[in-house]
Amino acid sequence: MKRFRTAVIGCGAIHGSHADVLADAPFSELRAVVDVVPDRAARSAAKYGCRAETDWTRVLEDPEIESVHLCTPHYLHAPMASALLRAGKCVLTEKPMGISVAQCEEMVRAADDSGRQLGVCFQNRYNTTSLHLRDLVRSGRAGRVLGARAVLTWGRGADYYVGSPWKGTWEKEGGGVLINQAIHTLDLLQWVLGMPAALKGTADQRSLQDTIEVEDTAEATLRYADGTRAYFFATNGYPTDRAVEVEVVLEKAVARVCGDLTVTWADGTIETASERNVRAGAKAYWGGSHRDLIQDFYDCLDEGRLFPVDGRQGIQAIRLIRALYDSSERREWVTI
Ligand SMILES: NC(=O)c1ccc[n+]([C@@H]2O[C@H](COP(=O)([O-])OP(=O)(O)OC[C@H]3O[C@@H](n4cnc5c(N)ncnc54)[C@H](O)[C@@H]3O)[C@@H](O)[C@H]2O)c1
Repeated sequence: MKRFRTAVIGCGAIHGSHADVLADAPFSELRAVVDVVPDRAARSAAKYGCRAETDWTRVLEDPEIESVHLCTPHYLHAPMASALLRAGKCVLTEKPMGISVAQCEEMVRAADDSGRQLGVCFQNRYNTTSLHLRDLVRSGRAGRVLGARAVLTWGRGADYYVGSPWKGTWEKEGGGVLINQAIHTLDLLQWVLGMPAALKGTADQRSLQDTIEVEDTAEATLRYADGTRAYFFATNGYPTDRAVEVEVVLEKAVARVCGDLTVTWADGTIETASERNVRAGAKAYWGGSHRDLIQDFYDCLDEGRLFPVDGRQGIQAIRLIRALYDSSERREWVTI
């Protein structure tokens, strides 16, 4: 397999999930890590044995670097990705792809124009449980979908926002619990059930109003073309981070992911699938499939296949989130 010359921009909380893989995988030679905070870049470079940069355009202008991972604040994903793609590099960006649909569309154009691949880090699509759930629903083995629900109850206190001052702001984070935490759950819903025809929802501040500008709690009803509904709830105001719950009711079974997957068939039979990608430690609830997603990205680059979580996929969750903000403001159903 080809060894790609790689770089990571942004050396904050998530960057280790990328750099750990890139520093020792046979498909990558990690050349550079970048952070505007010199100390962060230097510490990461020392750990991973590559060079440290504080100006990301050094990576943009380095003709040797072929693939770049974006672990930067949300508002920087679109301008960085578009410039890197147009400079001939492949880009794997952390979620969210961008903070507006227009930004995401420009990123897709940049990938199309340059012929380079753009991937979006929805690693939970690679969870064993997500793959089983999607297969069960899409195969039709359990009959038609009758409805679904998804619940995320995590906790983010003032210290979380103090540590990353871009978080909690409309300008730089682009939203709150929806665009940062629950975006994975909305992506899974649309990946498993397809895009709804319309949604109605609210986004509000229920506990962090003294700390952040953006919403800490949101709910929505998603209505599909056949009239089926999915109910969604997310909050950052819970005292602890619980496993995300996604349940789909089908004609012949109820499938529920909450850590592991449990399928309860109408005849009483119960099937279970354990999650193989369990992340160790306190961040287990984030989902532990970064390594599988990154491996697949480079397999696709190597084999000339389109990476399945591309820009056109990444944009769908942003469409849902923007529709939810719109619905919350107008207090009515919004067509997707
Ligand atoms: N996939 C997941 O499960 C997951 C989990 C956590 C975070 N994330 C995503 O990862 C991204 C980063 O989040 P985080 O929690 O690591 O944030 P963070 O604030 O901890 O890290 C961001 C880093 O980017 C650096 N930075 C800011 N501007 C820069 C610039 N112009 N050039 C280079 N570096 C710059 C900051 O100094 C900081 O070190 C976000 O998009 C977030 O949503 C994804």
